[in-house]
Amino acid sequence: MAEINRDLALAKKILDRGDLVAIPTETVYGLAGNALNEQAILKIFATKNRPAFDPLIVHTHCMENVEALVRSIPVAARRLAEQIWPGPLTLLLPKKSQVPDLATSGLDTVAIRIPAHSLTLELLQSLEYPLAAPSANPFGYISPTTPEHVNQQLGDQIELILDGGESQIGIESTIIGFEGQQPIIYRLGGYALEDIERCVGPVSMLPHSTSNPQAPGMLKSHYAPRKPFFLRSRESLNKGYREGAVYLLFSEYLPDIDPSCQYLLSETGNMNEAAKALFSALRKLDQMPISQIFAEEVPNTGLGRAINDRLRRAAAV
Ligand code: TXA
Ligand code: MG
Repeated sequence: MAEINRDLALAKKILDRGDLVAIPTETVYGLAGNALNEQAILKIFATKNRPAFDPLIVHTHCMENVEALVRSIPVAARRLAEQIWPGPLTLLLPKKSQVPDLATSGLDTVAIRIPAHSLTLELLQSLEYPLAAPSANPFGYISPTTPEHVNQQLGDQIELILDGGESQIGIESTIIGFEGQQPIIYRLGGYALEDIERCVGPVSMLPHSTSNPQAPGMLKSHYAPRKPFFLRSRESLNKGYREGAVYLLFSEYLPDIDPSCQYLLSETGNMNEAAKALFSALRKLDQMPISQIFAEEVPNTGLGRAINDRLRRAAAV
């Protein structure tokens, strides 16, 4: 198992020699390595068992570093960066050649973000290179929001998990690319669509794909528990208990089902609380002695859109 502590000097030592460290962010924990070192990038793909066509997000701590890695920044991207960074936003920008093709899976754009977590920002400041970091879970499984989540699955393969507590947002960053100057959402995430549109006006959504390398962030089946997972309407869920089932709900119990097999994401109906609880809840239910998980969609507002996106992908086969 990995060590879980806040030893930034040790983290730097491990990263400087091209090995990996799990890092906290406000969204989810990342599996980090030197983004400019091809050996480190290969280790990230191998550790996660991630297909080479699915590119990584590069993390840094300041705008100057972003500018050093990209060829240009659309006006809307700059506006979003100013408003949201450090925060749960990833921008897809045309990369300079110093960003290894391995990190971007051969794409001409690099995914880049400044995360809002003090420990990780301090680490990034101490390094001479940015960190490539996908979510610290085996490919396709639920993203980790605590050091223990990381340890359960990748603990045998890494030395150190930096302990930054529970991720405060709990759902991955919103990914935005650009068609010329026009922003396009590649992945709904921890910064709500309404707030993005308030900043840059109407944005469009990239359609989902099953395995299209042109749209790698949009793989349809993802974030999936190992147990059979189904999304159903509240009305149909309430129609009668299903053998071996547990129910994942937004804020209200199903009146006709035993409450002991129901799990609420937020008893007060708070969407941010629900987002923060989502991945922990999915992991907990996946480990319970039950045989299937049923869930309802949450209201499609604020982070609810990103939650529903994750629930749909968890239910996709
Ligand atoms: O909140 C987050 O974004 C977390 C934390 C650790 O920062 N990271 C994360 O990374 O969710 P990952 O690898 O699990 O998801 C990154 C997504 C992938 O689906 C990938 O396909 C997409 O970003 N992506 C990366 N580079 C891209 C590019 N150039 N074009 C399109 N999609 C890209
Ligand atoms: Mg991921």
